[in-house]
Amino acid sequence: MKPVIYITRKIPDDILQPYQDSFDFRMWDKEETPVPRDVLLSEAASADGVLCLLTEAIDKEFLAAAKHLKIVANMAVGYDNIDVEAAREHGVVVTNTPDVLTETTADLAFALLMATARRIVEANDYIRDDKWEYWSPYLLAGSDIHGKKIGIVGMGRIGEAVARRAKGFDMSILYHNRSRKVKAEQELGAVYCEFTELMKEADFVVSLIPLTEETKEMFNEQAFQNMKSSAVFINVSRGATVDEQALHDALTANTIRAAGLDVFNQEPISAEHPLMKLDNVVCLPHIGSASVATRTKMLELCLDNLKEVLNGAQAMTPVN
Ligand code: GLV
Repeated sequence: MKPVIYITRKIPDDILQPYQDSFDFRMWDKEETPVPRDVLLSEAASADGVLCLLTEAIDKEFLAAAKHLKIVANMAVGYDNIDVEAAREHGVVVTNTPDVLTETTADLAFALLMATARRIVEANDYIRDDKWEYWSPYLLAGSDIHGKKIGIVGMGRIGEAVARRAKGFDMSILYHNRSRKVKAEQELGAVYCEFTELMKEADFVVSLIPLTEETKEMFNEQAFQNMKSSAVFINVSRGATVDEQALHDALTANTIRAAGLDVFNQEPISAEHPLMKLDNVVCLPHIGSASVATRTKMLELCLDNLKEVLNGAQAMTPVN
């Protein structure tokens, strides 16, 4: 009998094709809707491996139901949807998808920074709403990007990739991280900063910090109050690193100028959410790594991890 792999969302057959001989694939058959919890739990019971997305909570209940499970391959670099400690206790390997998404996510972070700084979405709506009558000196004038100071919170692989882009724009680079990044300091001139100092100094604060107990709501009322009133906040990490009420207050009170958000506390965020009513917010539906090529590489890395572990070898990108 071939090992059973349960895939929690419909993925293209051609991606599975090279692995068909080795595995018995079962799959939730919808592309855009997550698998219901009861289906997930009952499928987990017979699975040797699971390929899941960040829409699935891989918690104690799931692990207790998944009696034969050896590996959970998460199609994301962040894995705050998984109780990694409980997985370790159950002897389940957890893998994520680092590296393959680094440059694509950095592209998106920079695109969001530029769109927010230069009011691209507002400007696009301005024409579509038929408001454009004359060229005017300050019509839709935004903030410069070149020559400004970027503050990167979370200087992992993606943070460094964003810093490389910032260097190309002649920005000065501050960063805050658990550990010093000597290479980035030497090669990019990045300067290590305490969090409070970074928030006070940066023209653009870019959050790329993983969500943990320590980073939950680290961007709170005090953090936003520390920012310059001309500064822009960009979040491409996890929504729960931000106190969204405090962010909303900061944006409406002109404590900060604007925000670009790819992630939210509750996803999907409703169009009725107060943040969505603000012109100085650019929002995206969590598409940091969403290029066709990168999403394909992420799926392939998940499948390669499953293959290795179910063949008794080491995972390629384990987190535990
Ligand atoms: C997406 O948010 C990821 O963690 O890869």
